[in-house]
Amino acid sequence: MDRTYETIKIERERDGVTWLVLNRPEKRNAMSPQLHADCNDALFHLATDPQTRVLIVTGAGDAFCAGQDLRLFFRGTDNAPRERFEAAENSHSWRWTRLSKFPKPTIAMVNGFCFGGAFTQLIACDLAVAADEAVFGLSEVNWGIIPGGVVSWNVVNAMNSRDAMFYALTGDTFDGREAARMGLVNFSAPLDKLREETLALARKLAAKNPATVRYTKEGVRAVRGMSEAQAADYLAAKSDALRFRDAEHGREEAMKQFLDEKRFRPGLGNYVRDDASAS
Ligand code: COA
Repeated sequence: MDRTYETIKIERERDGVTWLVLNRPEKRNAMSPQLHADCNDALFHLATDPQTRVLIVTGAGDAFCAGQDLRLFFRGTDNAPRERFEAAENSHSWRWTRLSKFPKPTIAMVNGFCFGGAFTQLIACDLAVAADEAVFGLSEVNWGIIPGGVVSWNVVNAMNSRDAMFYALTGDTFDGREAARMGLVNFSAPLDKLREETLALARKLAAKNPATVRYTKEGVRAVRGMSEAQAADYLAAKSDALRFRDAEHGREEAMKQFLDEKRFRPGLGNYVRDDASAS
């Protein structure tokens, strides 16, 4: 039985897909100190939850997340250093440390408003999908603040630097189609098809060999900050570690299906996982 939280919901699908839903729709899922604490706790538990093979992060109602709660996170802790410190620690921990290192694939499903600090969890997720109608904005410039935390660092990594600078300086909003065109999300879809399309992507990932998926995402992330020589060495070690860790022996199984049994060609479809060995 899942824990229950004041500001978020954990919801389950069949096939190992778990939803983490920010649940303050009346405040457009703005992130309060309580929400940061709840998300931090939930991600800690979901990381080793055997029923979670893929995690989707989204928001209840018509917002993904309206950024930090201006009343509770900012003004409410201006004169409370301990509370500010705790909220900031939890905020960074779940949105970046825990989410970007989550041991299973993660998808951000941007169903509506996505502002300011919400870009951190958007970019921390491995993949992102948006409603065509979603509204994104780096609105900080309007509030007399900068895209802080790690928002600026993230947007300049995930977006073309001209686009990142344009939207950070102007505070202009853009929709889901534009987010897809810029590569900030993988694709957009009409709002009434968004859930179905996101679930199809999640189920595709959930059906794959979990160790290989995990090592792939960790490798792709890690090499970004490395030289070519470091990356080659790291990836060689990572490949060896995967062979040791893969309980399904996916490498041997795929070779067998292709070379011996001639029933799998990667250009024509995925190899057939033996469910009995699937973890
Ligand atoms: N912090 C605190 N409260 C917020 C909030 C935020 N970031 N975003 C929305 N809310 C609250 C509103 O104050 C309002 O509260 P109330 O009902 O007590 O008055 C409630 O959520 C609904 O917001 P409202 O503005 O009435 O909804 P809307 O659908 O007309 O507009 C937004 C939605 C997201 C466009 C608008 O609320 C907005 O611009 N929010 C600020 C987004 C932002 O700049 N975030 C970055 C902060 S750095």
